[in-house]
Amino acid sequence: MDQTQISVLLVDDEIGTLELMGTLLERQGFGVTLARQTREAIRLLADRPFDAVVSDVVFDGSEEGGEVLAACRSLRPDAVSILMTGYPRIEGAVDAIKEGALDYLQKPVDPIVLAATIQRAVRERRMARRADELTFNDMVDILSGLVSQTIERVDPYTAGHGERTRRYCRRIATDLGLDQQTTQRLELAAIAHDYGKIYLEDLSFLTKEGPLTPAEYKMVQRHPEVGAQRLGSHPQLTEVCRYVAEHHEKWDGSGYPLRLKGGQISPAGRILCLVEVFDSLSTKRSYKSPWKLDKTLDFFEAQSGRAFEPEVLDIFLRLLERHGEEWLSAPQRDLEQAGILTPRSAAAAPAASEGGPARPTPGRIPTPHGS
Ligand SMILES: [Fe+2]
Repeated sequence: MDQTQISVLLVDDEIGTLELMGTLLERQGFGVTLARQTREAIRLLADRPFDAVVSDVVFDGSEEGGEVLAACRSLRPDAVSILMTGYPRIEGAVDAIKEGALDYLQKPVDPIVLAATIQRAVRERRMARRADELTFNDMVDILSGLVSQTIERVDPYTAGHGERTRRYCRRIATDLGLDQQTTQRLELAAIAHDYGKIYLEDLSFLTKEGPLTPAEYKMVQRHPEVGAQRLGSHPQLTEVCRYVAEHHEKWDGSGYPLRLKGGQISPAGRILCLVEVFDSLSTKRSYKSPWKLDKTLDFFEAQSGRAFEPEVLDIFLRLLERHGEEWLSAPQRDLEQAGILTPRSAAAAPAASEGGPARPTPGRIPTPHGS
């Protein structure tokens, strides 16, 4: 059972019954509030929430219990309501349940039975409520879908890029021992890292064949800062924006936009930068073919202490040895699923060694247009 104390509003015009039931419920750990009149009960319901409302039906000869039930339904719809009466009629029970009462108990009510009924009902209600709650992961999934679709609209070849980046970042962060809060923020940054692209003045070069002009390259280099600015100023996003702004900064200071170096870049930013390069190299773009595993491994090994921090890179290389083939083929699957590539066009695409970008020299990172 949830350890939070269950609050009960107990309503009965018979003071002896009211106080006895209240005392017995309190002894079993309930927080009990008493009301002798329906008006008082309704005022209390308007004042504060209760987990359960237990009310008599007949007050001074008139059936006012229904009013408490109606007030509970409109003011505190999350509370469970239970009616009790000394004059049970089957019609009364049916009507009460139709009006939203959970149960209809005959007086004298056994306090043990009442306590068990309340506990079971509140537990079920809380569980149902939890199932309806948005978790952090739900929100990240929803955001991921929205942001990815927006970015993919301006560059269809990035289909699935955000979600894959999130997945790989989480794996490296876990192995590196980053705490859960930082990892979650890194996941958000991974999804949104290229958000700034949609705000660039000219989007046509993102899908352009061939190299960028110096002016285009200068423009694309603005996207980390623009993305960080455009993501918003919510205090929970401060670190997320930092990672987005850092996602093209390199360990040796050769990145952009600020040419940050070493410890000036956050651990999460170092991970995001590495993963972003990996996923871009493994993805077919309008101007390049995806890389093969051996070439990818050679390239990353040569970048230790240059573009990437050695510790993060070592973790990544270990993961690549286990998951390399699967991770390198993931973009192809995502692009096929998005209808950008067909298995046939993929087969017809030139291999990286034939038509792809030139093998990089150490210290030089190939720069995909859209990343
Ligand atoms: Fe980028």
